[in-house]
Amino acid sequence: MRFKGQSAVVTGGTRGIGRAIASQLAWEGASVLLTGTDGAQAEKIAQDISSETGGSVWGTRCEVSDQESVRTLAETAKRLFSTVDVLVNNAAIARRNRIGDITLSEWNEVMAVNATGTFLVTRDVLPLMTTGYASIVNVSSQSGKRGEALLSHYATSKAAQICMTKSFALELAPAIRVNAVCPGYIETDMILEHYEVQAGLRGLKPTDIKDEMLARIPLGRMQEPHTIADLVLFLASDQARDLTGQAINISGGMVMD
Ligand SMILES: NC(=O)c1ccc[n+]([C@@H]2O[C@H](COP(=O)([O-])OP(=O)(O)OC[C@H]3O[C@@H](n4cnc5c(N)ncnc54)[C@H](OP(=O)(O)O)[C@@H]3O)[C@@H](O)[C@H]2O)c1
Repeated sequence: MRFKGQSAVVTGGTRGIGRAIASQLAWEGASVLLTGTDGAQAEKIAQDISSETGGSVWGTRCEVSDQESVRTLAETAKRLFSTVDVLVNNAAIARRNRIGDITLSEWNEVMAVNATGTFLVTRDVLPLMTTGYASIVNVSSQSGKRGEALLSHYATSKAAQICMTKSFALELAPAIRVNAVCPGYIETDMILEHYEVQAGLRGLKPTDIKDEMLARIPLGRMQEPHTIADLVLFLASDQARDLTGQAINISGGMVMD
């Protein structure tokens, strides 16, 4: 119960890694506000997590690339919690394409959700993070460190999140710690789509793409949403009180710097 009495906002908490983070925060005593792009679905997932964990969980719509929507999210968090102890910027999209085929709108869409969304949500939730020991965790990616073919817009947006993490950490210390996690591969909807689209672009089978990805991982397996959530909760907790501005790999050894 490391988060008993604390409140947390998790963007993109309806599926995959974000759902696991919201659920584990609730298991560990936090009151959680999770978001998705569909308000009714976000409320349903919040109710499901609340039933599973016995915790206080709310769900609301937030389009993280939209300033008004993010402002409404911050107002909802203020109404529910007054103050916010933990913010997890997890919501993101991935698009795959060859550089020459990426349209400006596709490039801008990825940047708007992944990079600008992280900025907007942080900016607007920040005034609520007044407890003196608050923590922000950004869910970035290994691709933001090493780059990734056919995902150059996604990888660039994830590198931007890492730089935001360091810049925000410098500016907000000592009252607020800011860290990032850099996952490798986790078989969520995002990766299932990745197998299909990459296979189409390269004339391969989806299973070839999966095999190729697995071959890159020294530990020989993909990560699970709950192991990413474990690291996010560690970083958000007092156990990580000496960590800020870090972008920590969790990729089965695929990335080491
Ligand atoms: N899966 C991997 O292998 C992997 C690897 C490295 C890093 N990551 C990172 O981990 C995080 C979670 O990924 P995931 O695999 O769990 O993804 P996912 O299964 O595709 O879930 C994405 C989540 O983000 C939300 N979202 C998408 N677009 C949004 C928008 N414009 N505004 C607000 N919310 C939006 C979705 O809400 P809806 O349900 O409403 O669509 C959903 O809750 C992302 O930051 C991703 O970049 C994933």
